[in-house]
Amino acid sequence: MTTLFVNACIRGERSRTLRLCREYLEGLEDVQEVNLVDLKLPALYDVDFVDHRAKLEADGKLDDPMFDLAKQFAEADEIVIGAPYWDLSFPAALKVYIEHVSVCEVTFHYTEDSRCEGLCKAKRLVYLTTGGGPVKPTNFGYEYLCGIAKMFGIPETAFACAEFLDVVGIDVEAKMAEALEEVAALKAAR
Ligand SMILES: Cc1cc2nc3c(=O)[nH]c(=O)nc-3n(C[C@H](O)[C@H](O)[C@H](O)COP(=O)(O)O)c2cc1C
Repeated sequence: MTTLFVNACIRGERSRTLRLCREYLEGLEDVQEVNLVDLKLPALYDVDFVDHRAKLEADGKLDDPMFDLAKQFAEADEIVIGAPYWDLSFPAALKVYIEHVSVCEVTFHYTEDSRCEGLCKAKRLVYLTTGGGPVKPTNFGYEYLCGIAKMFGIPETAFACAEFLDVVGIDVEAKMAEALEEVAALKAAR
């Protein structure tokens, strides 16, 4: 069973979110990691690139390497996304990654009766985050990824987070311990 770990933990080894991810991933057998800091994918703001990509998609030329990330996403049995809570959602690098994997006839397509149908194999998308303040009341990052999971045909989504980590005087380790328990419970329910 392949787990695709989408690592959007921009602060690398200092990231508390990465700690949650490592708890989830520890001991799993087949983990592929996409590190968005290392990848530095370009946002789709170049109209020539957007047109070129759309033409390849329309012509069915899906063997172009630009679609490799989408194929990897579509093939994984489980998706684990780790991203800090930034500006009520997540770092832009993750949105850029979603733009890259959102490829018609790879991760989704349209049926003859104009329905959007997902093509991904994954049974579950797990989203892990940590926030400086409250996360759960305005969890737009997770809500957006639930929408993407639905579009891509991934039937289950799950979420765990540590909140309030930047509040002065908070017991950060106690908050992390609670979150790590939530993560362990998610892992046990795989
Ligand atoms: C650019 C940026 C934006 C942030 N936006 C928010 C925010 O909207 N709400 C919040 O509660 N914390 C916010 N934070 C604080 C982080 O969510 C918090 O420090 C988190 O634990 C960082 O995760 P990490 O340790 O995995 O990097 C922000 C931090 C940064 C650097």
